Amino acid sequence: MLVRLQFQNVLAANVGAHGIPLEELVAAREEHASILEDVHLERRAGKHAFLDLPYQAEGAKEWAQFGSGVGRRYKNIVVIGMGGSSLGFAAIHRACSHPFANLKSRRAGSPRVFVLDNIDPDTVSALLEVAKPRDTFFNVISKSGSTPETAANFFVILEKLRKARPDTWREHLAITTDPDKGPLRSFASREGIASFPVPPGVSGRFSALSAVGMLPAAAAGIPIDEVLEGAREMDVASLQSGFDTNIPFQIALIHTLLARRHKSIAVMMPYSDGLSGFSLWFRQLWAESLGKRLDLSRKEVHAGQTPVVAAGAADQHSQIQLYVEGPNDKVIGFLALEKHRKRVRIPSDDASGELGYLGGTGLDRVLRAEREGTQVALTRANRPNYTITIPTTSPKTIGALLYLFEAAVVYAGRMLGINPYDQPGVEAGKKAAAALLGQEGTEDEKKALRAFLRPDKAHTLEW
Ligand code: PA5
Repeated sequence: MLVRLQFQNVLAANVGAHGIPLEELVAAREEHASILEDVHLERRAGKHAFLDLPYQAEGAKEWAQFGSGVGRRYKNIVVIGMGGSSLGFAAIHRACSHPFANLKSRRAGSPRVFVLDNIDPDTVSALLEVAKPRDTFFNVISKSGSTPETAANFFVILEKLRKARPDTWREHLAITTDPDKGPLRSFASREGIASFPVPPGVSGRFSALSAVGMLPAAAAGIPIDEVLEGAREMDVASLQSGFDTNIPFQIALIHTLLARRHKSIAVMMPYSDGLSGFSLWFRQLWAESLGKRLDLSRKEVHAGQTPVVAAGAADQHSQIQLYVEGPNDKVIGFLALEKHRKRVRIPSDDASGELGYLGGTGLDRVLRAEREGTQVALTRANRPNYTITIPTTSPKTIGALLYLFEAAVVYAGRMLGINPYDQPGVEAGKKAAAALLGQEGTEDEKKALRAFLRPDKAHTLEW
């Protein structure tokens, strides 16, 4: 078993009118069955290019070779990229590495790893203090090559790198971007910097299994062939096997049917710290792919569920009260492990009296009981929830999970009748920011934005 989905707690039989009646689920399966065939045929015609990423044997060899060379030579690796250009790698790295890897003593082949995905000046300058450019390899990742946050961070770092390594600064860089166009592609070609393609037709949040996620993963010492193998196994065991065993299809169906029942929030709650990066990646995938104003016929639909990230067991003490007793507007997806990588036993010596039940048991057993207890509490309060179980956190299982949810979001997009691959809402904010910063040709827009942003004295409080 690579992945198991238990979904009885989304059914009306268990959560009453807030759940899906079994007949409705069966009918919806039939209604949407053609989606599987359509996606399959379109895939063969070259659409949904991300589905074929796990089969790039040549690429994988090249990334592994280049990455392991980098990992041996540098003390630090910094990934610079926004959204889909960094979240996939961060999820893989979190699932496959020591939780405090950067604090462990460094061996060749295990550099410290940092992800720069914001332009907070305090963070950027602090990063450059701890990861000196002279000892650091930077992987700049941007499909468009024109994302302002990525470009701004890159320019800051480039200046420091050139000063620190006037002759060899180019060796400290790899650029992952569009194979043919964009400012980063031109820069890489002009300066002779090592570069890797983001495959055409693959948008950022679907690109984790390309050079975008695989190159830095290889540099961080992660066996990327196993990540890709996990994705391939998910493909064969699930996507290609038909209807009943197609976990991505079932996930898409559950979310779509529950959204119709006003479950407008999708909570992802792993009971494994190693999957915390995965839930952040999921949040972006679900939000940016499904949150759409228009459907494919240009009708206003305002589709999408708001994805929320929670961590078991920590957030039982912060959010579960709301989930059990607040508005019944959520579907909660639990992620569970069959087995944690380490076993930690709670000694019996001091666990007595009221806490005696803890003595002699494992932390993993307590974590499991906490999850099961939370599932029971939610289900008894008629809150729909499902559980995905994987054997453990490993390169293979994270590869399978990423692939599973990428496919699920495409099926869900079909069921909602929207395009999961674009992000017009993000573009609107990007354009406005560029105009405010004085991008050429946007002078009128800048004036209008300034007027719009002028503070209204009557509604401003200062203390
Ligand atoms: O998923 C997406 O398409 C986005 O999140 C992009 O990855 C993000 O906006 C960064 O874009 P780019 O890779 O062009 O820098």
